Amino acid sequence: MPTIHTHPSSVPDHVWDIISVATTAEPKIDSTRNTPENLKGLYQRHLAVVLMAEGEPVGFIAAWPVEDGFAEIGSIWIRSDHRGRGLSHKLYDAVAGLRGIKELVAFGVTTNPISVHVGKRVGLTIVDDWSRPVPMHLTCGPCELIALADQATCPKRGTSCWLRVMKPK
Ligand SMILES: CC(C)(COP(=O)(O)OP(=O)(O)OC[C@H]1O[C@@H](n2cnc3c(N)ncnc32)[C@H](O)[C@@H]1OP(=O)(O)O)[C@@H](O)C(=O)NCCC(=O)NCCS
Repeated sequence: MPTIHTHPSSVPDHVWDIISVATTAEPKIDSTRNTPENLKGLYQRHLAVVLMAEGEPVGFIAAWPVEDGFAEIGSIWIRSDHRGRGLSHKLYDAVAGLRGIKELVAFGVTTNPISVHVGKRVGLTIVDDWSRPVPMHLTCGPCELIALADQATCPKRGTSCWLRVMKPK
């Protein structure tokens, strides 16, 4: 059974290369930032979770510190041969408990309905306001699909793209 790892549990260095390559290949993951160095750095700052099986990574999730006070939960990945077994729940459970996101507003933008469903259980709730409490430049801002001027009326919001914000416990 795959096991969850969070810092300071030791993770071999080759794991970051594997996760970097795997997440970069996923079209729904914003992978420009997923270098092995960044992933390892997040892990060491209590901002990432790795799922391991037989010495290899089979899952990952991160809370990216995008700006003071805010962390974007994303980069969730389960290796294809382990999908459909409920393992993403383990990742979300673990990321919600990370020391690194305490005191931060944690949020996530996703086009994946599975992420919406699984995130709900740990309190990531869909919100309609894309500019509060998380500012627009962090929600729609990074999107490459729509021009800045059109962001306020983007038809994808709430239909094929969702903003979730974690309610404070
Ligand atoms: C997203 C991902 C991590 C999910 O992992 P998974 O192993 O496929 O999913 P799980 O088996 O853990 O859980 C799936 C849950 O979503 C539900 N689900 C499946 N398809 C769904 C859909 N289309 N809409 C809503 N919920 C769905 C399942 O019923 C299950 O819920 P349950 O456990 O309450 O019954 C995995 O598919 C993946 O790595 N995808 C590629 C990377 C990616 O797209 N990441 C998201 C970036 S935003």
